[in-house]
Amino acid sequence: MNEILRTTEAFVREHFDKEGTGHDWHHIDRVRRNALLILEKEGTGNRFVVEMAALLHDVPDEKLNKTEEAGWKKLEDFINKLGLTESTVQHIVDCIESVSFKGGRVIQLNSLEAKIVQDADRLDALGAIGIARTFAFGGKKGQPLFDPEIVVRDKMTLTQYRTEKSSSIHHFYEKLLKIKDLLNTEAARQIAEQRHEFMSAFLEQFYREWNGQA
Ligand code: ADP
Ligand code: NI
Repeated sequence: MNEILRTTEAFVREHFDKEGTGHDWHHIDRVRRNALLILEKEGTGNRFVVEMAALLHDVPDEKLNKTEEAGWKKLEDFINKLGLTESTVQHIVDCIESVSFKGGRVIQLNSLEAKIVQDADRLDALGAIGIARTFAFGGKKGQPLFDPEIVVRDKMTLTQYRTEKSSSIHHFYEKLLKIKDLLNTEAARQIAEQRHEFMSAFLEQFYREWNGQA
C-alpha cells in the first residue's frame, strides 16, 4: 500500500507541476494532511482510501485539463493500473466524484471517506491559506480586491454567477463564510471554527483600512 501511495504522489506532483491558481501540489498535500487529521480525530474510516482520494481529488478538475472528460480519463487510466480491487477503485473514484461535484445542488455523499475528503478540501479554502488562495485566484482572474458597488450575489443562479462581476472580498460572502455550516464531520467543524473567526477578523480589518481608519 505504501508503494501505491508513493506512485500516486509522484503522478500527482507531476500533474500539478505548473499550476498557479492555488491548485498546486501544496494544496493537494494540505488536503491530504487535513483529511488524515480528520480521520484520526473521528477515530474511524479507511485510511488508504482517504489518502488516495485526497491525493487524486483534483486530477479531473476542468481547470487543469482540456476538458473534464479528459481529466476523468487521465484519472481512470492511472488508477486502473495500480492493481487495486475493483471495489477499492470504485470507493476512491466515488470520493473524488463527490469532492469535485460543482453546482448549487447538494448531493448525497456515499461514504464516510467521501465526507472526510470533501471536508478536507473545504478546510483548505478557510483561514490564512484560504485568504491567500482567494486573492491568488482573484488576481489570476483579473477581478478587483474589492468593489463596494457590487452587490453580494448570494441569491443568483449559477449561470448568472459565472457572468457577473465580482471581487475577491465578495467571494468570502458567496462561499467561504458559509463553509463552516456545510461540513460533514464534527472534527472538521472544530478545525473550521478558528479559521472562520480568523477570516471574519481579516474582513473587519480590511474594511477599517479601506475606509481610511487607523
Ligand atoms: P477547490 O479546491 O475547492 O476545488 P476552487 O477550484 O473552487 O476550489 O477554487 C480554488 C481556490 O480559489 C479556493 O480557495 C476558492 O475559495 C478560491 N476561489 C474560487 N472562486 C473564487 C472567486 N470567484 N474569487 C476568488 N477566489 C475564488
Ligand atoms: Ni482541491
